[in-house]
Amino acid sequence: MSDHHVIIKDQSSGQSLELPVIRGTEGEPTLDIKSLPASLGYFTYDPGFSSTASCTSDITFIDGGQGILRYRGYPIEQLAEKSDFSEVAYLLLYGELPSVSELAAYNDEITNHTMVHEQLNTFISGFHYDAHPMAMMAGVVGSLAAFYHDKMDMDSSEHRFLSAKRMIAKMPTIAAACFRHHMGWPTAYPKNSLNFAERFLHMMFSVPTENYEIDPVAAKALDLLFILHADHEQNASTSTVRLVGSTGANPYACIAAGISALWGPAHGGANESVINMLNDIGDMSQVGKFVARAKDRDDPFRLMGFGHRVYKNFDPRASIIRVAAHEVLQALGTSDPQMDLALELERIALEDDYFIEKKLYPNVDFYSGIIYKALGIPMSMFTVMFAIARTVGWVSQWVEQSETPTRIGRPRQVYNGPSERDYVPIKSR
Ligand code: ACO
Repeated sequence: MSDHHVIIKDQSSGQSLELPVIRGTEGEPTLDIKSLPASLGYFTYDPGFSSTASCTSDITFIDGGQGILRYRGYPIEQLAEKSDFSEVAYLLLYGELPSVSELAAYNDEITNHTMVHEQLNTFISGFHYDAHPMAMMAGVVGSLAAFYHDKMDMDSSEHRFLSAKRMIAKMPTIAAACFRHHMGWPTAYPKNSLNFAERFLHMMFSVPTENYEIDPVAAKALDLLFILHADHEQNASTSTVRLVGSTGANPYACIAAGISALWGPAHGGANESVINMLNDIGDMSQVGKFVARAKDRDDPFRLMGFGHRVYKNFDPRASIIRVAAHEVLQALGTSDPQMDLALELERIALEDDYFIEKKLYPNVDFYSGIIYKALGIPMSMFTVMFAIARTVGWVSQWVEQSETPTRIGRPRQVYNGPSERDYVPIKSR
């Protein structure tokens, strides 16, 4: 793996150290610094892990400079155009595209696990009706460990894959149940004759008193969004899943932690924040004012859905979603003034020196909310939609980690607190 070394020299002691360079199949060369503390007595400081690879992985490749995203080597553009979410999920989990029989067997297994234990619905009904669905998701998914404790031997490959497939299958059922609890609607059980996206739409919107016809445009758009959100290498929520996984915690606890990390507005919560921001902007005449605020260092406001830690060129997912948003609105025969506002905001920002210099482009979440809205999905469910798709990435990364010798994730710190001092009894302070 290492074809050359980088020599670093400590000027104070005169000691030097050869650090091996690790090269993956693609991507930047990476210095292996493991020997640094023991050899020279130094740790490294990298807040936000901008320069640190936390693991090796065979799953997803991103070249942020060139706007490239590939799952298991396949370009996201090809998967978005030619594949579907079930096939992509299989690819991420198992590493190869499935044959016809492999895909059929996989879909069979997934549909075997789409229902949740009836007691879980009791658990969901215990939440207040206006609980945020992401808060419910984190709690309910964590609680799955209480239902499946007999199949959580993480040394067993069978148990690992079973847990992974259970989560892929049950996440839409739980998500829809959280939404229906808020609406006060009775449970809609998963219809296994439908595909993944159709099944979810049916569980979300069908009511016992009416026939529910699935709109193929809506199902296709949702399937596309699921593909685009399925994995994104070591992002904040996936790194959270891996960190929790490194302790040997059960997979449901790991995914519940991932859901919590995803909820933040700097991460998956951005899709909800984009629509809130467009609401605040209101109309075209205000766009300039908000762009100016985003550039003002003294104003904490940022353009939501803009910027990315890794992409310093267009986010390839955003390019696909932008086109899809137009197509969906047209096919559904609806117009959305927020789409026009988003386009104007993007146009002004992309011509602005601040955004050009900082290489800030729309990310995956800039347009996704507009599609979700057009499909009738309420804003509070947007990040849940992301979580349904990303579950595939989380479990694939968790399975990969579980199959690789892994040390507990335990970063260091630069301590800046007080040096040793003596305790003073309370009366003498
Ligand atoms: N609007 C205005 N300025 C921005 C924005 C933005 N959206 N994003 C970054 N900047 C500026 C920062 O102020 C900073 O400026 P400085 O160099 O003068 O200090 C510079 O660009 C670099 O930004 P960082 O925060 O250092 O970049 P980082 O990689 O840490 O953050 C992040 C990336 C969190 C995505 C950031 O761009 C952001 O907050 N975007 C808005 C939230 C968002 O859309 N999140 C979704 C990300 S995609 C996803 O997780 C699915």
